[in-house]
Amino acid sequence: MRTPALVVLAWGVWLAGAQVAGAADDQPSPAPSPQLAAEGKALYGQFCRNCHGVNMVNPGTSSFDLRKFPPDEHARFVNSVTHGKNTMPAWGDILKPEEIEALWAYVRTGGKT
Ligand code: HEC
Repeated sequence: MRTPALVVLAWGVWLAGAQVAGAADDQPSPAPSPQLAAEGKALYGQFCRNCHGVNMVNPGTSSFDLRKFPPDEHARFVNSVTHGKNTMPAWGDILKPEEIEALWAYVRTGGKT
């Protein structure tokens, strides 16, 4: 077989292109720091757990399953949390932007910390 190297190369170029296209819409978030995620977890316990469940395991209410939140949609996360969405309250007056970033770090762990 002689093709795989070329196929892998083509795939890599395609992936790089896809990432650039995504970046135009939203900033790719860096990997969450464990410390920030821990802060987010504490905030989550205080403000979000009642509706979104312990460790983001959705209790079967109508709230969104945060483990399924797309990891590349940082802007959507910040917007929904800051301004609220449908029956989800807005948090922009309660949480500081840094705290929303900490929550984002926690959400990106998928509740595994
Ligand atoms: C009073 C209950 C309640 C609380 C408290 C709550 N949420 Fe929600 N949340 C919801 C509901 C209900 C939805 C589904 C909204 C919809 O799509 O109709 C939701 C949706 C979301 C979404 C998905 C929004 C989207 O773009 O689809 C995110 C992200 C989210 N919540 C984060 C949080 C965070 C972070 C906190 C804590 C600061 C929090 N929520 C606290 C009820 C709540």
